[in-house]
Amino acid sequence: MIVVDDVHKHFGGFHAVDGASLQIAEGSITGLIGPNGAGKTTLFNVIAGVLKPTAGCVSMAGEDITGLPPHTLFGKGLLRTFQIAHEFHSMTVRENLTMVPGGQSGEALWNAWFRRGKVAAEERELLKKADEVLEFLTIDHLRDEKAGNLSGGQKKLLELGRTMMVDAKVVFLDEVGAGVNRTLLNTIGDAILRLNSERGYTFCMIEHDMDFIGRLCDPVICMAEGKVLAEGTIDEIKANEHVIEAYLGTGLKNKVTA
Ligand SMILES: Nc1ncnc2c1ncn2[C@@H]1O[C@H](COP(=O)(O)OP(=O)(O)O)[C@@H](O)[C@H]1O
Ligand SMILES: [Mg+2]
Repeated sequence: MIVVDDVHKHFGGFHAVDGASLQIAEGSITGLIGPNGAGKTTLFNVIAGVLKPTAGCVSMAGEDITGLPPHTLFGKGLLRTFQIAHEFHSMTVRENLTMVPGGQSGEALWNAWFRRGKVAAEERELLKKADEVLEFLTIDHLRDEKAGNLSGGQKKLLELGRTMMVDAKVVFLDEVGAGVNRTLLNTIGDAILRLNSERGYTFCMIEHDMDFIGRLCDPVICMAEGKVLAEGTIDEIKANEHVIEAYLGTGLKNKVTA
């Protein structure tokens, strides 16, 4: 589904991504791990159109998408979750979801005046969809809560929920489990597995928690110093000499061998 071919991203003289190549198979939940500073987030930003690569290509389903802006990629079903922006904190969970899809008729003054019926029907559809998403994620009890009052884990679920308001094909998750308690982490994991199996979402996720990765991801790709070091099942990755070596210097050995 996604092919990353020899991507480089330089910041001044610093090579944050230094010739990374990888593939994300359609229907997979691909894990991306690696020590801090490996270039994982930078690579995500290149794939999702947030950063332009210094060199290299990214393609989706055979189409060159290198350097396309995020909203164009969004239209193709390639999504990267973002933290809920501060200005959305005072809106309810449900309102946050209905803000996602673009091109609503209600946005245009013309429509607001002359096609009220259509606008109202679209709003009803959106609200219905939002309620379905909340139910799917088992947070329907939080429907009318202000987003700013949610816990860290609940916010992550809402971010995931926003990808469900559009027709996502491939979703990039950057440390969705960071700082989330076990119970909510399981809920997030269940939602990812269900979106994958029931709705055909392909995922690529950066994560540090090896148990979480082991439960969800196959294959797992390890990056270090801007390059792809190894790819395999979680067990192969944990046993890989190069991977262990890459983590050793960072004091994270326990995380990878645990
Ligand atoms: N906008 C930027 N300008 C300069 N250096 C950056 C920028 N973004 C990231 N870096 C550097 O690139 C390296 C890789 O960062 P990042 O992609 O965030 O790594 P990871 O997500 O694997 O921890 C880091 O050393 C980071 O300091
Ligand atoms: Mg990162």
